[in-house]
This record gives sequence, C-alpha cells and structure tokens, in this order.
Amino acid sequence: MAVTPDAGRWEALYAARTRGDVGDGIAAVLGLLGVPDVISFAGGFPDPVTFPRERISALLGEFAATGEAAAFQYAPTRGLAGALEAFADRIEGQQSRRPADGELVITSGAIEALELVGKSFLDAGDLVVVEGPTYLGAIQAFRSFETALDAVPLDDDGLQVDELERRLDRGLRPKLVYTIPDHQNPAGVTMSAERRSLLVELARTHGFLIVEDVAYRELGFDGQALPSLWSLAPDVVLQAGTTSKTLFPGVRLGWAIAPPDVAARLASAKQTTDQCAGAFGQRVFEEFQRRGWIDEQVARSQALYERKCTRLLAALERSMPDGARWTRPRGGFFSWLTLPGVDTTELAQRAVGQQVGIVPGSLFFPDGRGADSVRLSFSLVDEEQIDEGIERLARLRGLM
Ligand SMILES: Cc1ncc(COP(=O)(O)O)c(C=O)c1O
Repeated sequence: MAVTPDAGRWEALYAARTRGDVGDGIAAVLGLLGVPDVISFAGGFPDPVTFPRERISALLGEFAATGEAAAFQYAPTRGLAGALEAFADRIEGQQSRRPADGELVITSGAIEALELVGKSFLDAGDLVVVEGPTYLGAIQAFRSFETALDAVPLDDDGLQVDELERRLDRGLRPKLVYTIPDHQNPAGVTMSAERRSLLVELARTHGFLIVEDVAYRELGFDGQALPSLWSLAPDVVLQAGTTSKTLFPGVRLGWAIAPPDVAARLASAKQTTDQCAGAFGQRVFEEFQRRGWIDEQVARSQALYERKCTRLLAALERSMPDGARWTRPRGGFFSWLTLPGVDTTELAQRAVGQQVGIVPGSLFFPDGRGADSVRLSFSLVDEEQIDEGIERLARLRGLM
C-alpha cells in the first residue's frame, strides 16, 4: 500500500535543534550534482579517475584467499591496531610528528570527528569561532549543538589571526576555533607560517581548543606543506583528517588526534555514534599505506588537480569581467570567486539554466555574508569542459 505523504505531521515532535536550515545546505549542493549535462563546479568531490579500482579488486581477492576476518568484524572503538599503526605512520611521514597511542582515534570520516568534538565540548549557547567563509559541513555540525558561531575573515594568507586577537582582547570567549589551514574549503587559501605560530600562542593564552581540519593538506601542488598546527602545538590542537580525498570517500574513514584526555572523550562519544569506524575501510587503508599505494595515488591526484586548477585560473583570466577577483590555490579543490555587486544566489539559479553548477558564497558563512562570492570547485568537473563552463558563467547577463 502506498504511503500518503503528510509533510507537517511530525513537525511538533522534532527536536528544536533540528529546526531551521541544519542539513539543507549540503543537500542543495548535492542536488545540483544530480542534474544531467550540467558542467558542475559545485560539489567538492574527488575525480573518480583517481579511484583505485584494480587495487581494491586485487585486495579483496587477497582477503578471500587468506581468510581475512578483521575486515569483516567489529573493531575496537579507537580503531584496529594495524590501522592505528598505519595512520600514525602516515601522519608522521606527512607532519614530522607521530601521534602517541592515546592521542589517535580512527573516525568515520572527518565529519564524524567534528561531530565527536561537538558531542564532547559543546553545550547550547557556546561560542565557536570559524573562518568566514568556511566548510559548510562544519557550520552544520556545530550548529546542530545550538551553538553561536562567529566568523573571522580570511585573506590570501588564511584566517586573519590578528583580527581574532582583537576580538579576543575585546572579550570574545570561544570554546573552539575551527580552521582549515591548508588549501581551505571553500576559499582555496593557505594559512601563513607566522599566523600558525600566533594562533597556537593565542590558544595557549586564552584557553580555547583549536580544531584543525586537514582535509586537503596532502593535495598541495608543489609538495611543500607548512607545519600543521597540531605538529606545532599538540597541547592545544585537535586535528581532524580524512582519507576521502587521498584514498576515496566510499570507505568513510578519517581520524582525530588530540591530547590524550580529549581523545578519550571522543572515543567515549563515539560509542554512541557508530561504535567503531568500518573495519573494512580500516583494513583497506592499512594495506594501501603499507604498500605505498596511497603515496602513488596522491601523486597522481596532485598532478590531475593541478592541471584542472591551472585550466580554471586561465579560463577565469580570459572570461571574467573587470573587478572580479579570485583566489589562486596551490592545492586542494577550490577557488573563491568574488563578483562585487552580484547576487550570487540568483546567479547560481540562472547558471543552472545555462547548465552550469556553482555554489553561492553565502552558504559558507554562518551570518549571511558572502552574497557576492561563489565557490568554484575544479576537482570533479571534466577537464575539457572547464573553459566552456567558465565562458557560460561569464556570458550570463549581469556579469559582463
Ligand atoms: C574541510 C572539509 N572537512 C571535512 C570534510 C568531510 O570529510 P569526510 O568525507 O571525511 O567526512 C570535507 C569534505 O568535503 C571538507 O571539505
């Protein structure tokens, strides 16, 4: 028997924290991706050509042949011993500091790490500082705990830490400061070394926890990463990481590193989210890391995304009107385009009419700013369609 939809039926029963726009923003972005024949600069998804299909197939064959059990079984809440070791190896190789046993928790993606941070730290009304603009998923994750969000602006050198300092001096008292220092989502910028040092000093002085999201850190185009905040100050930094952009998102695998007592809180919170990250993905990651396969995949991904980024920047240079500005990423998936005077929510709707997908900038602010900006993602769009997509965007009435 067909179920009769009754949209309002449960309204009075929903938890207060779920009312409003929690969850709707990302759903809207994902919706754009589903429209056929759209040249989409919308979703921050990896290019499927990077997916290691043959190696996964070979690995599954090995699992069958060797009678693998761990991949199919429940895992300890913090993760399988071998996978924890493999994560620690990779993090040490990438960040020149090895997380101690009690500091590391394997999570179901970076988004779960943020959820665990929220469960462990945030009460209704607490204040979280974010970058303006920032990752939409983080805005939604923190908002779901009924927190207040204060967005500190970014520029080409990342979070304006001096502005944060002024606000702290004026009495701002955040529990958490959330930042994406490397190849930021959505702005594509990287925090300078000086600002990294100043930020960790502010955390020590003012007593907040820095939540460092390193989702794009390994996807630098020139192989030169600045020290992670966690490597500079493991006493005041919680790092959230993901294998979504380096391996593939289908395994939903990430990590959190934090001071041991904080990591213990996260592990405890995890017992009632998913109890453990999927053992299957953990075993896949472990084998890929040990065999050097992730390194090979990341090298190919870096080259692919650098080519796409170069093409996007050249297309913007050719097509965008005077006054338009955009960031010049040195890694990651995104450039941030600013079109002074243009309402980009309306532009995004008209762009769909021209079969181009973009995400309006205001989605990436907790306070409605960013109305004249757009996130352009170059990771998933077909390389050969980038020029055409940007030309279509530039041709839209009101832009030229
Ligand atoms: C900055 C940032 N953090 C976290 C995530 C989510 O990562 P995961 O797929 O591991 O949940 C993303 C994905 O788009 C991201 O851009």
